[in-house]
Amino acid sequence: MQPGLPATGAADRDDDFCLRQLPHGEFSMQSRHERETFHPVIGARREAELLYLEQFSLAERCASTTGDPLVVWDVGLGAAGNAMHLIECWRQHPGRDLQLASFDLRDAALRFALRHHADNAALFPWLRDWDWPRMLREKDYRLTVQGRVLRWTWHLEDFPDLIRRQAGRVTRGEPPLTVPAIVFYDAYSPARCWRMWQLAHWRNLRQVCGDHCELAFHSRATALRVTLLLAGFYVGYGRAIGNKEETTVAATQPELLSRPLNQDWLRQVKRSTSASPFTGTAYAQQPIGETDYQRLLAHPQFL
Ligand SMILES: C[S@@+](CC[C@H](N)C(=O)[O-])C[C@H]1O[C@@H](n2cnc3c(N)ncnc32)[C@H](O)[C@@H]1O
Repeated sequence: MQPGLPATGAADRDDDFCLRQLPHGEFSMQSRHERETFHPVIGARREAELLYLEQFSLAERCASTTGDPLVVWDVGLGAAGNAMHLIECWRQHPGRDLQLASFDLRDAALRFALRHHADNAALFPWLRDWDWPRMLREKDYRLTVQGRVLRWTWHLEDFPDLIRRQAGRVTRGEPPLTVPAIVFYDAYSPARCWRMWQLAHWRNLRQVCGDHCELAFHSRATALRVTLLLAGFYVGYGRAIGNKEETTVAATQPELLSRPLNQDWLRQVKRSTSASPFTGTAYAQQPIGETDYQRLLAHPQFL
């Protein structure tokens, strides 16, 4: 451990979080309730680069001077690792405006990280150079850099509830909050955070996502992919990160996927012991039922 860094597992007062040291030495944090570590294998910077920035060519998309502002949803603000790495990318690649919306139940993870960063700038280094008191107070921030505008808005409430209300707006013909082009979906696992993964939630999200949206997930779980397909998304193989050979991407149009799941994958679904979509009141692993399998076969991705 580097001199001056706290012991792993150190928890603050009544905090829900504690520090964790990752295998390569970097520090991250763990939720004590869910027992899940943020960015556990390769750390926040590398994970943001591989899973979101590079996979979605965000440097090029930020640099583009044509078109509307780039709209990105950061689901699971947490300690703002993904959000701040995107903002850094936007600063380094001048072009278009950025509208970033972050979602979380609360800002407790960020406050934990900020306290540790204030004590030791080597911890959560992406938190430097930002007016956090103002952001925590106002939750809606505009920054202009060389004529380009970043608007960063926080929505601190239950994400599935918010999306259900937004889907209701779309059904009534009213515009939703914003329509994202890119979604970083970084929630705890379905076993720990069931509400964020249920099929009903994904059906609502599909209504809100509009026609030109791409989403990325760490997971490569068959059940997640089945759930996304049954919600109406197109689903593809995402790039490898850390020790995971592949992750998952989803999109509202098939042309947005460079490597869509194929017939081989569909055959594996039938053999998998945990391919049943995320329905019901709690996380459970089981094979897919015949009705759901027939629905998958009828998905336009496989026709
Ligand atoms: C793995 S952490 C996100 C890490 C974050 N992306 C970062 O870069 O630091 C998952 C986050 O999802 C949030 N979360 C869990 N359940 C939620 C819900 N129902 N609605 C909104 N956010 C939720 C948690 O509070 C937690 O901050």
